[in-house]
Amino acid sequence: MKILVTGGAGYIGSHVIRQLIAAGHETVAVDDLTNGIQKRIGDTPLVKLDLASPEATDSLIKAFKEYSIDGVIHLAARKAVGESVERPEYYYQQNINSVTNLLLAMREAKVMNMVFSSSAATYGSPDVDQVNEDYLARPINPYGETKLVGEWMMADAAKAWGLKVVSLRYFNVAGAGFDDLADTSIANLIPIAFNAIKNNKPIQVFGTDWPTPDGSCVRDYIHVLDLADAHITALDYLDQDVREHSVFNVGTGKGSSVLAVIDTIHKVIGKDFDVDLVDRRAGDPAALSADVSRIEKALGWKAKHDLTDIVSSHYRASSN
Ligand code: UFG
Repeated sequence: MKILVTGGAGYIGSHVIRQLIAAGHETVAVDDLTNGIQKRIGDTPLVKLDLASPEATDSLIKAFKEYSIDGVIHLAARKAVGESVERPEYYYQQNINSVTNLLLAMREAKVMNMVFSSSAATYGSPDVDQVNEDYLARPINPYGETKLVGEWMMADAAKAWGLKVVSLRYFNVAGAGFDDLADTSIANLIPIAFNAIKNNKPIQVFGTDWPTPDGSCVRDYIHVLDLADAHITALDYLDQDVREHSVFNVGTGKGSSVLAVIDTIHKVIGKDFDVDLVDRRAGDPAALSADVSRIEKALGWKAKHDLTDIVSSHYRASSN
């Protein structure tokens, strides 16, 4: 299939593009290059576009026709939870307008397949150790809210005009599948920790008094290569039949605490560094891990990589 990947020059998007090509698909990227880096996508054509801008619908219709696009993987979004709390209107403008423009263009150009990048942030702060897709989604920040609204828009398009769509709720994505595709933004725990070590600064642990086994927060860390493969599997699933909008968790089903991540980093790099135990960060749920039984059963997809693979691949790629 010919797949248009929005956010294609980003950290996750460039992994998705490589895995699509490896699986025999052809790719086109859409990216405004605010965080994306063009050299990550090699020979894949780039449509440089702010998807939330008023002219995006027409530009997309043109691109769909020019490249005979069969399906879309929509990753492009603003995704910093803290920033979304400070600038909610910007997050709604960016993340909702982009979905609106994309769906208008897809309907007009009769592009009927979509994989939508959603997030575990849609769950908010669930009171279960492993959350499944039927759990009531109650996001606790504007970022999570925009992702949930995006899912609703997908479901409505599926009902109204037969869009075939899967929404993937990502848990904590990290690692690198290729040495030139490291996560260069210093926005999440593993890149932040490596950056601190590089600069001889302590790694901060946000809270050690959480109701978890070692007192630090628990998350489900998923290797970016496993995540990219989940998109390819989701496309194959859409290709099989007309389906209702389905939502799948993408995680490992195994939670790791912040202290366990730091311990893994210590083992992988084999040298000491400083760790500061500081106060809790506002808005953090204590524990968030995926129940992955639905995606395993429906798509036959299962994560192959563990936390050590994630940490060592990030280490290798970020030292590159
Ligand atoms: N943490 C620290 N110290 C740091 C940075 C983070 O202790 O310097 C802790 C956080 O408190 C949290 C854990 O490490 O407990 C992971 O934090 P991240 O900021 O890496 O990620 P979040 O779990 O807050 O959010 C991430 C993505 C979201 C996504 C969510 C889904 O950034 O987009 O995972 O689980 F929605």
